[in-house]
Amino acid sequence: MKVAIMGYGTIGSGVAKVLDTNKDIISERLGEAIEIKYILDLRDFPDDPHADCFVKDYMDIVKDEEIKLVVETMGGVEPAFTFVKAMLESGKSVTTSNKALVADKGAELMKVAKDHDVNFVFEAAVGGGIPIIRTITACLTGDVIEEIAAICNGTTNYMLTNMEQYGSDYAEILAEAQALGYAEKDPTADVEGYDSCRKIAILTSLVTGKNVDFNDIPTEGISKISATDFKYAKSLGRSIKLIARSVKVGDTYACRVAPYMVKPDNMLYHVSGVMNAVSLKGNMLGESMYYGAGAGALPTASAVVGDLVFLARNVSKHVRIGWANEKIELASPEEERFRYFVRTSALQSNIENEFENAEYASLDLDDEVGFITPEMSESEFNERIAALGGIISVIRLY
Ligand code: HSE
Repeated sequence: MKVAIMGYGTIGSGVAKVLDTNKDIISERLGEAIEIKYILDLRDFPDDPHADCFVKDYMDIVKDEEIKLVVETMGGVEPAFTFVKAMLESGKSVTTSNKALVADKGAELMKVAKDHDVNFVFEAAVGGGIPIIRTITACLTGDVIEEIAAICNGTTNYMLTNMEQYGSDYAEILAEAQALGYAEKDPTADVEGYDSCRKIAILTSLVTGKNVDFNDIPTEGISKISATDFKYAKSLGRSIKLIARSVKVGDTYACRVAPYMVKPDNMLYHVSGVMNAVSLKGNMLGESMYYGAGAGALPTASAVVGDLVFLARNVSKHVRIGWANEKIELASPEEERFRYFVRTSALQSNIENEFENAEYASLDLDDEVGFITPEMSESEFNERIAALGGIISVIRLY
């Protein structure tokens, strides 16, 4: 079975490494060897063990009928979309690790794959090495998934864990995460929650069978979380985690990415450092959680190679997973109900006027009060804090 790899960066070269290192066991399991025939990259790699496989024009791969399987590890929507579409249209199955591509064009590429009796799979796009996509699309097909709650960004989880452990402030820990190579030079996609937003959009599309537009998901990151927020969280016996969540509401889902204060009886409380975890609630299954390395060359490449074996077992046969291009209208974010932790410079008497039965946090800081509201809808909460004023920070409870 001859394959092509498009994009020889961290993940693409990791895929070659997994295929080389575990060549024998993969052949044994599949019943034939998987061999790299092409690697598409604009750069030259003269010292690479696969140096003779490099090409610079994706049409070289499209035109070669011997290639049935293609790996896309380029990242970004274009030109990845054009290349992947051309591969599917020429009868080749594709696996990608590219969450931006899957979140934006997944349903469309799935239709192209179906029309050409091939497959488009993306195990590595969410949760890196955690096999969450196949868990949802194969193992849990007997369940209605009623809730997904995920820590699906390693960079921000690393930062929050360190802020909690060392009492560091956001800017300090971001600089450290960048120095260690966890956070990108431009960390916006991670720290503002956009990466988690795309991942929960993909997972929610798979559980609904319709297309979730990631632009419809209210998304807050961690850039406003401070060391003082963590002091309050600690005094309340909680931690702060960036959680991507989808909850079934009638025939649709309410989706949100935001930092939440989490109690120790929630399994996500215990997910620390760069690790990821996805918790699912099925109407038959109950709760289950999947935990592991959500990023990194080899865990992600391991998921890509698992996909390659799946694709090799299903050449010329489209395996339906039920992801239609029809857009799903998500539940109104304004109707979602939470308890909220609030820091404000307002007077306690004014807090009592706006929020009866508030629970106060005892941090005894000058010039501010921290309290937890009773449960209420987002719209009601927003009206009340606008009336209260002096808001320093707000974190939802989960
Ligand atoms: N930037 C992502 C993270 C990489 O930190 O989790 C994996 O998608």
